[in-house]
Amino acid sequence: MTRTATPGGFAIVILAAGRGTRLKSRHPKVLHQIAGKTLLAHVVAAASRIVRPEEIFAIIGHEADQVRAALQSTGIEFVEQKEQRGTGHAVMQAREALRAYEHVLVLSGDVPLIHPETIERVRNFHVEHGAAMTVLTAEPQDPTGYGRVFRKYKDLKPTEEVDRIVEQKALRNNEGEQREINSGIYAFATEPLFANIDKLTTENPAGEFYLTDMAGLLGRAGHKVVALKASDSSEVLGANTREELAELDIKLRAKKARELMAAGTTIFRPDTCDIDADVEIGTDTVIEPFVQIIGKTKIGSDCRIRSYSVITNCQIGDKVLIRPGCIMEDSVVGDGAQLGPYSHLRPGSHIDEGAHVGNFVETKKTRLGKGSKANHLSYLGDAVVGEGVNIGAGTITCNYDGVNKHQTVIEDGVFVGSDSTLVAPVKLGKGAYVGAGSCITDDVPADALALGRSRQVNKPNWARENREKMKAAKKR
Ligand code: UD1
Ligand code: CA
Repeated sequence: MTRTATPGGFAIVILAAGRGTRLKSRHPKVLHQIAGKTLLAHVVAAASRIVRPEEIFAIIGHEADQVRAALQSTGIEFVEQKEQRGTGHAVMQAREALRAYEHVLVLSGDVPLIHPETIERVRNFHVEHGAAMTVLTAEPQDPTGYGRVFRKYKDLKPTEEVDRIVEQKALRNNEGEQREINSGIYAFATEPLFANIDKLTTENPAGEFYLTDMAGLLGRAGHKVVALKASDSSEVLGANTREELAELDIKLRAKKARELMAAGTTIFRPDTCDIDADVEIGTDTVIEPFVQIIGKTKIGSDCRIRSYSVITNCQIGDKVLIRPGCIMEDSVVGDGAQLGPYSHLRPGSHIDEGAHVGNFVETKKTRLGKGSKANHLSYLGDAVVGEGVNIGAGTITCNYDGVNKHQTVIEDGVFVGSDSTLVAPVKLGKGAYVGAGSCITDDVPADALALGRSRQVNKPNWARENREKMKAAKKR
């Protein structure tokens, strides 16, 4: 077979076809999330730092369509492994895809903390040693469950060369004491890999084709198999159980918080905050305890995010104050705006510069213009609110007629008195004034006063006379 690859051409294969039996889940293992991102997306992000997306091949099988759909936007390639017959069998499926590559780095879809720098070290070590196979190893506190790497010895000392890898289930006698584990991350020269991979058998406790058996196989065929130990074993921890998922999630979030603090964000009690991997926060912003910042949220500088707020996929400007207990999703908040306590920004809310949204105010698909205020107990849905508008306490946009949603337009400088209902579609013209307790069903012209309520009637002495009548009736 002739190879057209550029010298030293590396592809990356990510093993992601397994069911993840130990998670006891209906969903594919690699789509479980830590720090707000799927396991596989973490691995793809690291791999994308080493090669181009079209040089990354994810081996998918269990719920392949779901996995493909979730990762489609990354631009990577997919190879299907229809039956999941082991990690060796998974790599066999990539034979055609890897035809043009001299080397391949194999990563595990369930080893998500791997750093790009470490993958790079594996690549360089592999090339420098002219190896057929390079295994990334580690020495974690507890090696239980991992495959163990046995090195070749020379003069009673371990060498860089690997003799064999033995899976946990196949360990004999005192082999379990071996602390050096297989990370599931490797580099292979594709030529010897595919020349020998068909020699793998299923003669092992799991009845699977083990990729790990390639170490012994290649060695016996006269090829060089070497091991490189990771400096930090926590980088290669696998996520096989819910407990491990939770542990990795904690590790990743702690790392995220450390990175943010190093870059100038204050986080009090970082152990109580959940900040997703892709979140961005500016300098001198203060995050109080028990805050969740989720998804692709971006927060500017000099903001203060007070306790118990949950912020999902929001864009927040500079100098924004978010008081306790705000729930915000898919929304935009301009510089200097103030929210809460207990504001609820539902998707499509756009709070402009310096605007205020107060307690128990809910917004949805609504723009609140510069400097406008909705401070208490309101619902603003499908509304376009101009600048300098005052929305009185308890104002409600009646945007839904049971079938369709309608828009409310409130132009600049409007004053809406408390407890008004604005029945959409309706428009309040610039500078208009709505009397408190109004039910507004018709458009209000600019600068007009609208009163949508019945007139008050006072009946002199009625209350006293009524009381006396009642008392007299009781005596009888
Ligand atoms: C594997 C290694 C073990 C190593 C550990 C590190 C083997 C036989 N064992 O064990 O030495 O210490 O990783 O984390 O390789 N997969 C497929 N197709 C399959 C089977 C698995 O794509 O048919 C994928 C899985 O989705 C997973 C990865 O390969 O992402 C590893 O499989 P898993 O079953 O988790 O292997 P481990 O038992 O953890
Ligand atoms: Ca695993």
